[in-house]
Amino acid sequence: MAARTKGFHQSSAPDANKTTTSRNVWRRHNARTNLALVTALRPAASSLIMKKQEQKWHNATTAIHAGEEKHGLSVPVAPVITRTSNFTFANTEELKRWAEGKSSAYIYTRYGNPTVAIAEEKIARLEGAEAAVCTASGMAAISTTLLTLVRAGEEIIAQRQTYGGSYRLMRDYLPRLGIVVRYVESDLAGIERMVNPRTKAIYLETPTNPTLRLVDLRKAVGFAKEWDIPTIVDNTFASPILQKPLALGIDLVAHSATKYLGGHSDLIAGAVAGSRTYIDRIRESIIYFGGSMDPEPAYLLIRGIKTLEVRILQQSKSAMAIARFLEKHPKVKAVHYPGLPSSPDYRLAKSQMSGFGAMLAFDVKGGIAAARRACDRVRIFLLAASLGGVESLVVLPVYSSHYKMSAEELRKAGVDPGCIRVSVGLEDPADLIEDLRQALA
Ligand SMILES: Cc1ncc(COP(=O)(O)O)c(C=O)c1O
Repeated sequence: MAARTKGFHQSSAPDANKTTTSRNVWRRHNARTNLALVTALRPAASSLIMKKQEQKWHNATTAIHAGEEKHGLSVPVAPVITRTSNFTFANTEELKRWAEGKSSAYIYTRYGNPTVAIAEEKIARLEGAEAAVCTASGMAAISTTLLTLVRAGEEIIAQRQTYGGSYRLMRDYLPRLGIVVRYVESDLAGIERMVNPRTKAIYLETPTNPTLRLVDLRKAVGFAKEWDIPTIVDNTFASPILQKPLALGIDLVAHSATKYLGGHSDLIAGAVAGSRTYIDRIRESIIYFGGSMDPEPAYLLIRGIKTLEVRILQQSKSAMAIARFLEKHPKVKAVHYPGLPSSPDYRLAKSQMSGFGAMLAFDVKGGIAAARRACDRVRIFLLAASLGGVESLVVLPVYSSHYKMSAEELRKAGVDPGCIRVSVGLEDPADLIEDLRQALA
């Protein structure tokens, strides 16, 4: 165990410019710590395990097996929930070694937990990242990431069309901390005029919530690299199955894992993935801001991730059928779905995503009154906030994600008062189309 743990430390030696604390944090919480512990218990299987971990798997295999090692006698096939807030030490020498950063032992679940580590490894591998850290919610992931990168007196360039919660965080809270937020439209027009030496992060979301606009990630990366500014993309809507921003040069990917990663509307969770250097720093902030993930939702998240690919592919197929139906409907003014050739982002979607996703929105003729009427008449779709689960949902952005926004802010965010956002679930698409037909009649 000692030799293996030591080898692991050497192989993940952090950059010289990292703090001792972040080094310690990394050692304690790297998902592979779990592997080291498992390996120590079953040394005969260790070479097989290492080979498995190093293999390059496709998404579906990664989702099911990454972070979990199951070969051997009487090993539970399902992940174990390590439901504990704290972990024992064998003796004070081990405790001292932990305090000195020489041990990868777990100490306290706010710092790290083996069940959470499995979810982190799956997300890191799916995003093609060196590391990931899970959080108590998507907002914990986003706020902690930004507060790690930017301090008082510094600036963020943020896309204006983002999830309303992210927008309100930037509009109402970051300025109170002395952080300046400059807003750029989804086409990034004029971004070069917003940048200055105090700009420490570029925050993007694509596709956007709720109007499904896309940001050209290659363009954003080209600009950010020129200025050496870290980029963050909220990849919640696409999921790593349909879009891998890190492969395009983005530095950090954030998720509301509440949505597609979890997939069953039964947990609140978040995650950030990126280089070890960034994730070490963000993990350290999470430990002190306190937005760590609990092992129970981590178990649900792991279970959800295992079926991520089949869910999102089927849900995307249904979304395309629904978008085509809505596009021809006489009471529909506009359909927002990047998979429709009429979408302004169709070509971009084809170039940076491998599918169009399962979210769409449409504007009904007659504004908010007509939108409310349709939402009050659905029978299969549920009228509910959130998204990405197996149940199809409709919601009015002006009364949910985009509440507390002025008419001018809504106009700038491209949100029509008659906009209905649709999260397409796993029901039969023919039934969903029938439901929308009767709701709009
Ligand atoms: C795109 C997007 N990002 C982030 C969030 C925030 O995530 P959470 O609700 O898990 O904190 C949401 C929530 O709706 C979202 O839709």
